[in-house]
Order: sequence, then structure tokens, then C-alpha cells
Amino acid sequence: MIDFSLTEEQLAAAEMVREFAAKEVYPTIKEYDRKQEMNPDVLPRMAELGILGINIPVRYGGQGFDYITLGLVCEELERVDTTLRVVMSVHMGLNSMGILQWGTEEQKQRFLTPQAKGEKYAAFCLTEPGAGSDVAAMRSTARRDGDDYIINGEKMWISLATKADHFLWFAKTDPNAQPPHKGITAFMVTRDMPGVTSGDIHGKLGVRAGSTGWVHCDNVRVPAANRIGEEGEGFKIAMSCLDNGRYTVAAGATGLIRACLEDSVKYAQERHTFGKPIAQHQLVQQKLAWMQQWYDCARLLYLRVGWMKNQGIRNTREVSMAKWYATDHSFKAAHEAVQIHGAYGYSDEYDVERYLRNSRGAIIYEGTSEIHQLMQAGYVLGERKDKPLRCELPAYDPEFWQAEG
Ligand code: CAA
Repeated sequence: MIDFSLTEEQLAAAEMVREFAAKEVYPTIKEYDRKQEMNPDVLPRMAELGILGINIPVRYGGQGFDYITLGLVCEELERVDTTLRVVMSVHMGLNSMGILQWGTEEQKQRFLTPQAKGEKYAAFCLTEPGAGSDVAAMRSTARRDGDDYIINGEKMWISLATKADHFLWFAKTDPNAQPPHKGITAFMVTRDMPGVTSGDIHGKLGVRAGSTGWVHCDNVRVPAANRIGEEGEGFKIAMSCLDNGRYTVAAGATGLIRACLEDSVKYAQERHTFGKPIAQHQLVQQKLAWMQQWYDCARLLYLRVGWMKNQGIRNTREVSMAKWYATDHSFKAAHEAVQIHGAYGYSDEYDVERYLRNSRGAIIYEGTSEIHQLMQAGYVLGERKDKPLRCELPAYDPEFWQAEG
């Protein structure tokens, strides 16, 4: 049975988020984008509205919605500004959902519950100055010392680096392991641990109203109770977190395509050349038609993934396709939207200039388009096959999700 309808609850959650983003964030977004700073009200308001725990079970402080709702929420957030969706990618997709999947019951109470309530903000520390696509090349280390680990390392391009309280940190517990990815282990590092420092990176092309930075661990003592999963399981944990992060990126990029389309339709109907609205010129119509096609395809691709997550079906292949398609096409849509706006699209008087800059980063982070093409080719050729995991992302079960616990 195929059912494309959305429930009233899913639509109401999306509507609530749409209003929040349009009324509370949009009016100041240009100001913060120019200042290259994050609006300080954004995280507390997202927490207050329950967005930071939208699809986490109520028993862990969340709102108990399903994974499709998470996608819809990300689409609405990025319809207004990419920086809002980036918050969900790291706080929810890459961190909280990883704890939901791999954390012990005690770790869920200790880390997931305050994150879902928005009392603590969460980030994902995988990438390093010398290790991006090639995750296993990381140099961060974790050495066992009694009941603790001593962590050293530098992480780079970390969203919410200076805002987060909890960092899901990946380090080598066995730097000599072969293959190298088998030596990686995951930990929850918290900001209050001595030796943790962070800073923001300025001068980025896009997502300027977001927080992106570096985090360092200098002999940070982390209790073994903060180890997520077993020693050596870190690579799989990171990859499964990326299966969730990529979902939020795909859904968000779909929202960005919608932003390009809606703004372009409006402008094309207002702006006149050669005696008629530019919407009446066939080459402008062609661009609008493309954007609608890209939006429909991107939305169907991410909703398929949301459905698979709800059923508890592994979706590494499908989410890679959704992320690759949506981010590549959001960049194309932004390029066409600027073209439709002409010289006005080249200045920040209109939003399409920001859409173009904001769309670019997503083609790099959470797997470059080249990595996704290699993955897709691997599946097609039968060289890449997904193995069952010790802990799979739990299927959405409304009874469990909505029970007080
Ligand atoms: N879930 C769980 N396990 C997985 C998995 C997944 N999605 N993908 C692979 N694995 C497992 C495999 O089953 C395999 O297990 P065994 O050791 O038991 O055989 C193991 O992990 C190794 O898998 P691969 O052989 O597929 O690994 P690879 O070395 O070929 O690497 C890769 C694959 C696709 C290149 C991968 O390294 C990759 O996706 N790289 C990109 C990383 C990335 O997206 N980085 C972005 C960081 S986040 C960010 O951008 C920061 C931010 O703040 C936004």
C-alpha cells in the first residue's frame, strides 16, 4: 500500500514551525547574516517550542512526533533560512538520534533528555583539519586511563561549536587498527570538562548567521560511562548518525528549492520587460518549471526516507540519494532564482543572493556530492552492501513515542 497523505499532526507541526521561522527569525536574518553572528534568541525559542526534541519520544523529553515530521520541520526551517535547519542537522540528526540509536538507557536519560528538552545543545565532532571525507584518517585519540579516557584532538567545521554543551566526539582508541576505521570510538564530551575549548570561524561563503567553528580537546578526562557504544564501533556510529543528518539536510535543501521557486514566481509576476511580466517569457517559465520539478523530486526522495525510518528500514542508500539530489538541485535552483531576479538578485536586497551562498555548503558537508556518487555507483555495481547493525535506529512506534514512560 502506498499512502502519500500527511496526517493532521504532521501538518500542524510543520505549520507551527513555518510561523515561527517567518515571524520570529525572518525579520532579522539579513542583519545577522551581515554581522556573521547567530541570533541569540534562535536556540532558546527552538527549545521552548519543542523543535529541538520534535521526533524524540516523550519519555526522553521530546514531543513524540515521527521521523516524517522531522523532515517537514527541516523543510520549513530552511524555507526561511539554512542556519535554522543546520541546528536540527547537528543537534537532532547527528547527535540526539545517535544517542536514541546507540545510547544505553542511562545515557539516554543523562544526555538525550536534556537535549530533547532544549536544556542542552548538541554538536557532532567528526571532521578534523586533515580528515573530512576520509573519516578514518582522523588523528584525535582516546587513551584508556582507569575508569576514564584521556582525549586529545582538534575538530573543525563543527556546527554549533561555540554554542553546544554536548559534543559527540570521535577518536581513535586503537591508532594502529587495520582497517583504520575499526580503531575509532565515540564519546560524549561535555563543555564543562577541563581542556575543552572552542571558537567560531568567520569569513564563510554562506550560513553566516549560523555558528560554525572548531573544538579542541587537550588532555580531556572523559568517564568511560560517556563512551557511546563499544570500543571500535565509532565509525559505524558516525555513519549511522550521518544517515540521520543527511535526512535533515535533504529535507532542508528541499525547503531551499521551494524558497527559490516561491520568490522567483512572485518576482517574475511583478517585474516587467519588453512590455509584459517576465513570467510571460518562455525562458523564465522554463526555469520555474525546472524548479517545480526539482522540488517535487527532492520532496519525494526525502519523504521516502522518512517513511523508511518510521518503518525501521535501513536507508543508507536512499538517504544518500536524497541528500545528493536535493543539495545539488538547491544550488541549481538558487542559481536560476538569481538569474530571474537579474541585477537585483546579485545584491542582498533580495533573499535569493543568500539562498545561493547558503546552498553551496550542503554540497560539501555530510558527504560531498562526489562521495554520494561513489556510494550510489557502489550500490548499483553490487560492491556496496549494508550489513545489519548491533543497534538499529528504532522504528517509530506511536505508543512508545507518546507514552510518558
Ligand atoms: N551505518 C552503519 N554502518 C556503516 C554505514 C552506515 N551508514 N556505512 C558503512 N558502515 C560500516 C560498513 O558496514 C563497514 O562495516 P565492517 O567494518 O563491519 O565491514 C564499515 O562501516 C566500513 O564501511 P565502508 O567500507 O563503506 O567504509 P569506507 O571506508 O568505504 O567509507 C565513505 C565510506 C562513504 C567514504 C564514508 O567514509 C563517508 O561517508 N565519508 C563522508 C563523511 C562525511 O559525510 N563527513 C561529514 C561530517 S559531518 C559534518 O559535515 C560536520 C557538521 O557539523 C555538519
